Amino acid sequence: MSQASEETREHWSGSLAFVLAAVGSAVGLGNVWKFPYITGMHGGGAFVLVYLGCIALVGLPILMAEMVVGRRSQAGPVGAFRSLAAPDRGGKLWSIWGYFAILTGFLLLSFYSVVGGWTVAYALKSVFGQFASGTPSEIKAMFGAYSGDPVSSTMSHAIFMVVTIGVVYSGVSKGIERAARTLMPLFFLLLIFLLGYATATTGFGEAMNFMFQPNFSDLTAAGILEALGHSFFTLSLGMGAVIIYGSYLPKDSTLYGSAIAIGFFDTFVALTAGVVIFTIVFSQGMAPGSGPSLVFETMPVLFSQIPYGSLLSTAFFTLLAFAALTSGISLLEVVVSFFVEEFDMDRHLAALSLGGAIFFFGLLSVLSNSLLADFKPFGATIFGNLDYFISNWALPLGGFGVAVFAGWGVDRDEWWDEMKDDWFGRTAFRGWLFLTRVVAPLAIILILMNLMGFLSLEA
Ligand code: PHE
Repeated sequence: MSQASEETREHWSGSLAFVLAAVGSAVGLGNVWKFPYITGMHGGGAFVLVYLGCIALVGLPILMAEMVVGRRSQAGPVGAFRSLAAPDRGGKLWSIWGYFAILTGFLLLSFYSVVGGWTVAYALKSVFGQFASGTPSEIKAMFGAYSGDPVSSTMSHAIFMVVTIGVVYSGVSKGIERAARTLMPLFFLLLIFLLGYATATTGFGEAMNFMFQPNFSDLTAAGILEALGHSFFTLSLGMGAVIIYGSYLPKDSTLYGSAIAIGFFDTFVALTAGVVIFTIVFSQGMAPGSGPSLVFETMPVLFSQIPYGSLLSTAFFTLLAFAALTSGISLLEVVVSFFVEEFDMDRHLAALSLGGAIFFFGLLSVLSNSLLADFKPFGATIFGNLDYFISNWALPLGGFGVAVFAGWGVDRDEWWDEMKDDWFGRTAFRGWLFLTRVVAPLAIILILMNLMGFLSLEA
């Protein structure tokens, strides 16, 4: 093993650079593609409320745990678990969780890149003015036609992977930091602009009611548990991305402040995207629960109806593609840095070969909408199965591993030493430890028990 010491390991230039990169990882398709469609499928307000509770009580403590695990160990998930675990509390066995995280990252990126490719394609379609005219139903139909075409969707998946590989190839501060620093703020600005537009649209009031007026009779056990699972997906937790990014953190960076900033921006983007999308849904009389195609069917309809629509549409899908890219980078970084740290593999070779392998594996997900559409092991396409397995099982299990590891598997003094100089000293530290040891693991156990059918809270 060649674990770089803090002196030789490449680091972010400071807390702000870390926050930008971590926000880049967190903010992505989870916020703009997935959050609105699962909110739509689970009836709105009450789901959103549970989701916010999960972010605060489970997501943020685990986010901090991953950051501190990375910063303390100066290693990726496998090395971190191996080096930090107290010998009498599981010891090196913990690194199994690290291997699991690497595999999760590989599989997640293989289908994430497919959706990322769709955003690239939609950016290109916008450049050519393809959403400039046409009825809402014609525009909606374009999504099925695109994702159902094996050749075009393979091309867009390839473009997404090539760019992701290119950034990881060029290393931490040069590639990742630069990409995150310039593009994320632009994306926020565009969203705020679109939100302003939405406020002046007829469906806005209904969208606000849908999202923020909880109607608890809409809430099912499945919805509660999906909200919890999504809090992992959206904060990039449970598969080592934040451990790796945390390992590039300088020692004097603020942990609480960074975690809060990441949670805030991530939530802000998800809620804003939700409001904009549901405003379109309600003003067009569309169905809120239409599923994974939601963002691709609603936003182009909005752009077809407003001044400078093609321009705004190009900007929206381009920036969304970049938001997806900064998330994809963090996924590939987990896999690549594992081979670099554990096997001394050359970073360039690792980025090319592993990125290539993920591209080829991802073809199964690309073709799930066309040639393999009828191949449905366990009742869903390969894409559907991967998404289900990763989001509902692998990430919560991974998050559970981090929470239990940080809470119980590592000596408490080790953390106190790492965090004592940060905000509020002992008070904040105790709060974090309690959430990490007790609240987060219990909540995750509830999800998984429900998925396994031991709990039947279903109304
Ligand atoms: N958080 C990213 C998003 O919301 C997805 C992601 C998950 C990225 C896990 C890295 C690790 O789009």
